[in-house]
Amino acid sequence: MSIRFCGLELAHPIINGSGTFDAIAAFRVFGEGLRGAFPFAAYVSKTITLEPRAGNPPPRLWEAPAGLINSIGLPNKGLGDYLLEDLPLLADMSTDPSGAGDSQAVPLITNVMGSNAEEISRLLEACDERPEISAIELNVSCPNVHTGLDIGADPRQLEQVVRAVRGRTGKPLIVKLTPNTADVALCARAAQEGGADAVSLINTLRAMALAPNPLSRPPRPWLGGVTGGLSGPAVRAVALAQVAAVAARVAIPVIGMGGVQSAAHARELIDVGATLVAVGTASFLDPAAGARIAAALHAGTAP
Ligand SMILES: Cc1cc2nc3c(=O)[nH]c(=O)nc-3n(C[C@H](O)[C@H](O)[C@H](O)COP(=O)(O)O)c2cc1C
Repeated sequence: MSIRFCGLELAHPIINGSGTFDAIAAFRVFGEGLRGAFPFAAYVSKTITLEPRAGNPPPRLWEAPAGLINSIGLPNKGLGDYLLEDLPLLADMSTDPSGAGDSQAVPLITNVMGSNAEEISRLLEACDERPEISAIELNVSCPNVHTGLDIGADPRQLEQVVRAVRGRTGKPLIVKLTPNTADVALCARAAQEGGADAVSLINTLRAMALAPNPLSRPPRPWLGGVTGGLSGPAVRAVALAQVAAVAARVAIPVIGMGGVQSAAHARELIDVGATLVAVGTASFLDPAAGARIAAALHAGTAP
């Protein structure tokens, strides 16, 4: 089942969705046992920004029918502390347990986000210097400070930004597209034209929930961030449509995700053109979901 993806050799096609599996916390809980049984073929970090972010005030989660709305707000310790504290831990965890040289059994993909080309350039340059990082995923669901529009929602802006930052790293650059746009395939084309090596989708769909008490007047938003992002089974059909549309329009590899809970769901995304499949919300229900799905894909059995 091993797969080549942007020059990397992966043991199987299942990786994690950014922000949905905390590998450092998992190692604290499961210890050394996880080293040889890591559930994903590559590990994607949560989104890292130049400066630390506290994230949104609570409440941060809402259970929607067949899904989850999160308004976590991308809290993270910032680039400096991520590189200093987290990356060495992640690199140690992902080293081949057989001790065969320094090879990383689980390549590390760092997900970064900035609000303009200059910020993104600094993130890419810093990641480029670190041999532990195998590839970079650029989250473009970040509002442009001038237009308020997500950078990735406008194909022209997306192409300009990717082109401006592309040269700042020699590592593979994956652009994580936003589904909250008129034509995601056009955005994927723009990312490719700008120099992306791969695209990933879908990120969460913009969503909202009102405070649960129907008698409260005026109605008020439940989530501290007012709106949040919908994920899980509720978005799977949307993900399938968007991955199919994108795969038909680009020549670069596509990482598909959105609501995957089983090998059958992963197989559908592969059938419409995904090279890799990421498991996100399902890992909150079952931290071993990635391993279960990879094993079932390999065996040709569902789920
Ligand atoms: C709690 C939570 C946190 C997330 N954090 C990030 C993040 O930091 N960066 C990012 O690019 N995507 C983030 N995502 C989006 C996921 O990586 C994925 O694109 C999305 O949830 C769809 O996949 P799923 O339905 O399998 O969860 C997050 C999703 C959830 C549910």
